[in-house]
Amino acid sequence: MANTLDSGPVSPLIADLYARAAATPRPAQRPGPDASAQERADAMAEVYMPIDPVAGRMLYSLVRATRPEIVVEFGMSFGISTLHLAAAVRDNGVGRVVTTEMSAAKIAAATATFAEAGLADVIEVLAGDALETLAALPGPVGLVLLDGWKELYLPVLEILEPRLPSGALVIADNASHAGAQPYLERVREPARGYVSVNFPSKADDSMELSCRV
Ligand SMILES: C[S@@+](CC[C@H](N)C(=O)[O-])C[C@H]1O[C@@H](n2cnc3c(N)ncnc32)[C@H](O)[C@@H]1O
Repeated sequence: MANTLDSGPVSPLIADLYARAAATPRPAQRPGPDASAQERADAMAEVYMPIDPVAGRMLYSLVRATRPEIVVEFGMSFGISTLHLAAAVRDNGVGRVVTTEMSAAKIAAATATFAEAGLADVIEVLAGDALETLAALPGPVGLVLLDGWKELYLPVLEILEPRLPSGALVIADNASHAGAQPYLERVREPARGYVSVNFPSKADDSMELSCRV
């Protein structure tokens, strides 16, 4: 049975990207609270901020289990999470990953990585603000990873919601971040159409897994 995640060239590429992420310091000066999403993306253009490796393997498994036609990722960065999602799509033999990023430098680097991984044919990178680039996306969207700026989780969900069928999964990283609270309030309100569960992803953070019902 196929396991693209744990084989070459994907497995060593992911290991190399995690090593680079660990070796890259965060900028000493971060943009203030009034900075735009683009200004923050530009300030963090060299910073990886990847999902935890365990979360990456969970994402691979969820995509394998649910076999979505379209996987959407909000916040690609250097593409570590995207590689996990795309490896699962490859092994499913069906579907594609549509990912979003507004840093031109990260898009260039990740695009080269996807080609090196042999996964470029199952990944579409939408360049620019996801609030705009996702608006025209067709459905059905079977699985969503939210990992861009946290206060945009709810607006991104609202854009995608008409294309989420019953059974679609939405996974939000960094759910303990204050900016994600309006999103959490939405998906945890049963009347809004989700069954939602929170679980720790590392010592000081969590993820929220929400199933559209
Ligand atoms: C936490 S990082 C993503 C990490 C990535 N998912 C991984 O695991 O490797 C967040 C990324 O989202 C991007 N981003 C934030 N807001 C965005 C928006 N409105 N549209 C597109 N990309 C955005 C940032 O530029 C940044 O690179």
